[in-house]
Amino acid sequence: MTTAADVLARCAELDRCSASPHHLERVHLTPEHAAANRLAAGWMAEAGLRTWQDAAGNQWGRREAGTPDRPDPGRPALVLGSHLDTVPDAGSYDGMLGVVMAIAVAERLRGTELPFALEVVGFGDEEGARFGKALLGSSAVAGSWDPAWEDLRDRAGVSLRQAFLDAGLDAARVGEAARRPEDLVGYLEAHIEQGPHLEAADRSLGYVTTIAGARRFLLSVVGEARHAGGTPYPRRRDALVGAGEAVVAVERLARDGGCLATVGRLEVWPGAVNVIPGRAELTLDLRAATDAERDAMWDRMHAEIAAICGRRGLTLEVVETHRAPAAPCAAWLQQAVVDGIRSTDDHGADDPLALWSPAGHDAMALAAVTDVGMLFLRCADGISHSPDEDVRAIDVARGLDALQAAVLRVAAVVAARA
Ligand code: GLV
Ligand code: MN
Ligand code: MN
Repeated sequence: MTTAADVLARCAELDRCSASPHHLERVHLTPEHAAANRLAAGWMAEAGLRTWQDAAGNQWGRREAGTPDRPDPGRPALVLGSHLDTVPDAGSYDGMLGVVMAIAVAERLRGTELPFALEVVGFGDEEGARFGKALLGSSAVAGSWDPAWEDLRDRAGVSLRQAFLDAGLDAARVGEAARRPEDLVGYLEAHIEQGPHLEAADRSLGYVTTIAGARRFLLSVVGEARHAGGTPYPRRRDALVGAGEAVVAVERLARDGGCLATVGRLEVWPGAVNVIPGRAELTLDLRAATDAERDAMWDRMHAEIAAICGRRGLTLEVVETHRAPAAPCAAWLQQAVVDGIRSTDDHGADDPLALWSPAGHDAMALAAVTDVGMLFLRCADGISHSPDEDVRAIDVARGLDALQAAVLRVAAVVAARA
């Protein structure tokens, strides 16, 4: 049986599929993404799953309903999974833990009779670290792919369309990755919490009620590059100073409005010590508990940044690179996860902690095509998107037991419906 120690060892093995030997970085449609898919496919096959990579680069495994001796092929599937891509300089668990736990649970249930097919997925892009648009893998599966995304470019200027070709895939065929609602029972995702609440409550596990929606933008502030010595202040149109004022305004507005907004990247052209910056590009990631609050906040931010640019003689260009609506978890799958947690010896398991997720997850894309539920695991100091991410073996052990019990709970509900 795959233990918590095996799960942690597999996460460490995935760390080796990286763009750099010095830190973990694995973005969409790269050779390291392909290597992670191959590793995961090997573990899936060991767990008795039939494996394939879909047209969007997601790695899948499936066993049929029934038992290995008496399979009942073609039934709708309960899907377990998460993502295999990372942010730059990532930790080992954001995404990967959920995929590896899903494989372990499939292995534990290998001989168990189920009224649905059981599938495991490792999505190829959740973070959006390469093309700015997040959830590319799960959006393809949900059938909400927008062909306009194929023109998005990475920082080296490679288009998403070209990246598909480089990975031996064809963006024109991405529709083949879409799943029909009638072929799915639901989607369950285990994930580290990426926040401090479970640790503060001294719990290993919690269940998710809803996932906040996010919007992301690329903002370009355009001024004029000129001589740093020869240009008096009244003649300057410094793009970086305008962008800097915008960054401070973004934080002030988000804090005052109860939202979360982050400028994670700021680049300046031409980037020389003695040239006034002529262009600055900044990314903006904006989240709120509801889509309405998030959208109202963006309207306020946009107006304020435009006013800053206006006062400084700068122009502002805005490209929205990502928009995902808030996604509630289905009540019956929340209940299955609650029952799963209750079956463990977690502290306070009789009254599991409900959490809403300000972090994005593949479940929010899948919610467009099937019911979703999420199990959160405590992570040390609530830290994520950092090499300091850490999880304890006892939490993973309880997480495996809870996820397995949740699958069996779903099985009981599905069997009762038949
Ligand atoms: C994904 O981790 C996100 O919330 O950005
Ligand atoms: Mn994640
Ligand atoms: Mn992440």
